[in-house]
Amino acid sequence: MIKNITEKIVYIGVDDTDIDLFESQYVVPNGVSYNSYLILDDKVAIMDTVDPRKGDEWFENLRVALAGREPDYLVVQHLEPDHAGNIAKAMQLYPDMQIVASDKALKMLPQFFFDTQFEGRTIGVKEGDTLSLGGRTLHFVMAPMVHWPEVMVSYDSTEKVLFSADGFGKFGALCHDEEWACEARRYYFNICGKYGAPVQALLKKAATLDISIICPLHGPVLTENLGYYIGLYDKWSKYEPESEGVVVAYASIHGNTAEVARKFAEILRVKGAEEVSVFDLSRDDMSDVVEAAFRCRRLVVAAASYDSDVFPPMHDFLYHLAIKNFCKRRIAIIENGSWAPSAGRAMRSIIDGFKDVQLVEPMVTILSSLKPNDMPKLEALADEILK
Ligand code: FEO
Repeated sequence: MIKNITEKIVYIGVDDTDIDLFESQYVVPNGVSYNSYLILDDKVAIMDTVDPRKGDEWFENLRVALAGREPDYLVVQHLEPDHAGNIAKAMQLYPDMQIVASDKALKMLPQFFFDTQFEGRTIGVKEGDTLSLGGRTLHFVMAPMVHWPEVMVSYDSTEKVLFSADGFGKFGALCHDEEWACEARRYYFNICGKYGAPVQALLKKAATLDISIICPLHGPVLTENLGYYIGLYDKWSKYEPESEGVVVAYASIHGNTAEVARKFAEILRVKGAEEVSVFDLSRDDMSDVVEAAFRCRRLVVAAASYDSDVFPPMHDFLYHLAIKNFCKRRIAIIENGSWAPSAGRAMRSIIDGFKDVQLVEPMVTILSSLKPNDMPKLEALADEILK
């Protein structure tokens, strides 16, 4: 798609609606966009390329938007292949074009493009460095670990545009008009969730800039109500919940633990829980459950015992939370076992590694199936988790 963002900044990115899994793990029912921008000033700068899957379409967009001009610079803000995949081809096509990137990115470039000659073709930039395009100046702001170490963002001080790399990105191709927060949150926690502190550092730097437009590398260009998006990023990167609700995530082999989880959700609702969502970890999309867990203040994990450990779908879920730095939540545990319950101990050993978590006691143990004499224990646990 080619679309003017301002008179001299043109969107030249592409939609990818036939990708099966983004980063080979995330379902994207509405696809994803790989955004790229062209700044047509006295000098011409391309802001990032796109995934090689859509390289042909991007080069055609670029050719049309250039309207016969030649690019002077390709600004590489992020080296992940969904944005950097066409660097070598672009360098061949435009032999006078210089690559502008952080020093870290320049060091990493030959790892991806080992047979490309970069000597004499690159400009390394550091925090606070600038690049004049004639009528405007780009200011470079380093953003390491948002979400790779080489990342930088760029600020056009003339039109007050922040090119924010993966920051403020979302799943969903631009041809699908959908609410921003849900797919942006799923993208954020599953992809950048571990890096709350670096995102906070970037937000502090961004707070010193007067920003009118945010141009991310995925999802829509943000032009209005920027405080809303920045406010959510602030909350997410501080690991603060958005809802007082409860996520009940279960891993059930034969359906008995599922029944306990559903019953527990019912008890929570009767007791007036603000919002209760139930997820089947064997069947529901992992990134959806991770997103929900970060959105809500309370998490209940219910799982069957398995091989003196916990049923693997629950292990997988808790592992995902652990690597995304899940913290600052209330958590309750329900285990099920038929002869030697082990799920509770196994879940607890992972949860003990989460920071600032309040583990709600006592853990409830179910023996094989839900029985009337289990109800008081579930009622008591529900009272505790809702405190
Ligand atoms: Fe969209 Fe970190 O790549």
